[in-house]
Amino acid sequence: MTTGSSVYPTSEAVLSSVRAPVHASDLAQEACAALMVRPDQFDVAYSINPWMTMHHPVDRDRARTQWNHLYTKLVGLGVQLHVIDPGPGLYDMVFAANAGMIHRGRAVVSRFRYAQRQQETDYFWQWFCHQELEVCQLPSGCFWEGQACCTFVDGYLLCSLGERANAQAYKALASIWGIPERRLYYLPIKDSRFYHLDIALCMLDRETCLVYPQAFPFEDYRWLQAHVRRTIPVDLADALCFACNAFVVDHTVVLNVGISERLEQRLFAAGYETAKLDASEFHKSGGGIKCLAFRYQPGE
Ligand code: ARG
Repeated sequence: MTTGSSVYPTSEAVLSSVRAPVHASDLAQEACAALMVRPDQFDVAYSINPWMTMHHPVDRDRARTQWNHLYTKLVGLGVQLHVIDPGPGLYDMVFAANAGMIHRGRAVVSRFRYAQRQQETDYFWQWFCHQELEVCQLPSGCFWEGQACCTFVDGYLLCSLGERANAQAYKALASIWGIPERRLYYLPIKDSRFYHLDIALCMLDRETCLVYPQAFPFEDYRWLQAHVRRTIPVDLADALCFACNAFVVDHTVVLNVGISERLEQRLFAAGYETAKLDASEFHKSGGGIKCLAFRYQPGE
């Protein structure tokens, strides 16, 4: 697709937008970039997913240390990192993977399901505007929480459906990004502990994924197996340890320290190495390593 006017949404699919051309020089930048949000506001002060019980208060010093370790690791792996401050009282803004998603130079900012997160949009909108990107917003009635909810698989946009994302949002995204609707594959989430797709599925590369199969209807897992050459299934214990919530840089999978030996061996056998970090303070809020970094490729 090009970013020409033929695919530019003309209806209310875009309430507002900022046009800025993607320059060819973008393509020469580092292949992997990410946005992180400082953990200064992070806390669990309400419950919008089954992980947020309030019984285990966040240790904010530990959270900051864990966040710093992730930051240092990603920088060490050559990720071009941007860091922004969270807005006041936005406890969950640290989960930058919920900022939105960029595809072919066009950023779409999230439409959060819960009021507690909706103000984050303004900050992420600003950040997208400062990148050389065209920024779009979804119409009201849509729910979608960014790259945490969907991913590209074999030419399809794999669209998780559940409390945090609805079909209306994906139809609007398809319009914005010029994706034919037949290239949307809907994947209902069965288990509310995996309320975001990125807790149950991680594409390690175009042909390999980590997945907790029971999060989805069986026929959808079969679809995934038909479209991804190597699916590495994760058991419940590893899934609840946020094993699928991994950040991949080339052949290094950055993931939570508590994963099983068995899973690690499977990753080695698939040609990956692991970098294990503790993200346990963020698990109290239902987020892990991948949630803390919005990943994008300059020029994508
Ligand atoms: N407490 C946050 C929420 O429920 C956690 C977000 C996790 N983010 C993610 N990319 N899965 O919205």
